[in-house]
Amino acid sequence: MSYQINIEKAKNPKPKPDPKNLGFGKYFTDHMFIMDYTEGKGWHDPRIVPYGPLSLDPSTMVLHYGQAIFEGLKAYRTQDGRVLLFRPSKNMERMNSSNERMCIPPIDEKFAVEAVKTLVNLDKDWIPEGEGTSLYIRPFIFACDPFLGVHPSNTYKFIIILSPSGPYYPGGINPVKIYVESKYVRAVRGGTGFAKTLGNYAASLKAQAEAEKKGYIQVLWLDGVERKYIEEVGAMNVFFKINGEVITPSLEGSILPGITRDSVIELLKSWGMKVTERRLSIQELYDAHARGTFEEAFGTGTAAVISPIGELNWEGKKILINDEKIGETSMKLYNTLTGIQNGRIEDKFGWTVEV
Ligand code: PLP
Ligand code: COI
Repeated sequence: MSYQINIEKAKNPKPKPDPKNLGFGKYFTDHMFIMDYTEGKGWHDPRIVPYGPLSLDPSTMVLHYGQAIFEGLKAYRTQDGRVLLFRPSKNMERMNSSNERMCIPPIDEKFAVEAVKTLVNLDKDWIPEGEGTSLYIRPFIFACDPFLGVHPSNTYKFIIILSPSGPYYPGGINPVKIYVESKYVRAVRGGTGFAKTLGNYAASLKAQAEAEKKGYIQVLWLDGVERKYIEEVGAMNVFFKINGEVITPSLEGSILPGITRDSVIELLKSWGMKVTERRLSIQELYDAHARGTFEEAFGTGTAAVISPIGELNWEGKKILINDEKIGETSMKLYNTLTGIQNGRIEDKFGWTVEV
């Protein structure tokens, strides 16, 4: 399908934020992409308009039943002035997998990448320069019918907004403290855990708020049935290095299939390291720690990049990992991944796409 994107430029461009104090997701660029879906007509009217508030009927379905999905990817500026996206087609593929689960009509994945490129190109002056910064790209789709019946909507909006951002965690790459959650659960197999849908995040807030009060940055979820097997952290997948082997929970429908996770598995394999995707119980981790074979733990995500984990607390039992220092594998992964993303290291995998 071929679409023409109509562009209306902002008349009053905003001042750019201080690149040293960006934080995450606080500032937004001058433009946004919008496209509508109407049953019978399909996706139509792709356009870029000045960034600004939306006007919604109070009965708009998404506000009541949360039928919506989102994605997260980044644009990076290279030292020689090029702009790179990291595996954008993977995000659009996952967007359609989330759409399918949430009864939202599929988007044209190739066109969605084109829409991202057009928007990023228009707002490219907003891509920050400096270690750990990038332009975070947030595509999302939500149900628009003004209707209170519980039923898939007949109309949707697909929007893309851009946010110049620094590190997701205030401490950057410094190891984070994670609380192992054994009271609340995030998802179960058969539910929506693998989809990037709003309810998963809403359901996580209470546990996250309680963990924050105790001094932890996020929670590590255990499986929703036995509360025994490790799933993922709030906004990242997790990896553990035990006795030289890197282990990450297998994808069984309840965790997000992370694009950083997939890239990390490929990188580790390319270095000849042993990587295993399997069920891993929290007890097994604690046993490895007791034996002295638990070497490193880290989270992976677009926003979180590679985030070493320095402490775990499971039912009051605290363990420190690698003396709360950044591990060798975590550091090498961070340098290689950000190097490929920023164009400093040759991209042998064909992951980057120039805007
Ligand atoms: N898990 C959850 C729940 C997330 O929200 C994210 C972030 O997108 C991830 C994992 C990591 O996924 P990705 O590497 O594709 O950003
Ligand atoms: C991302 O890493 O892109 C995410 O979506 C995490 C987000 C929930 C902040």
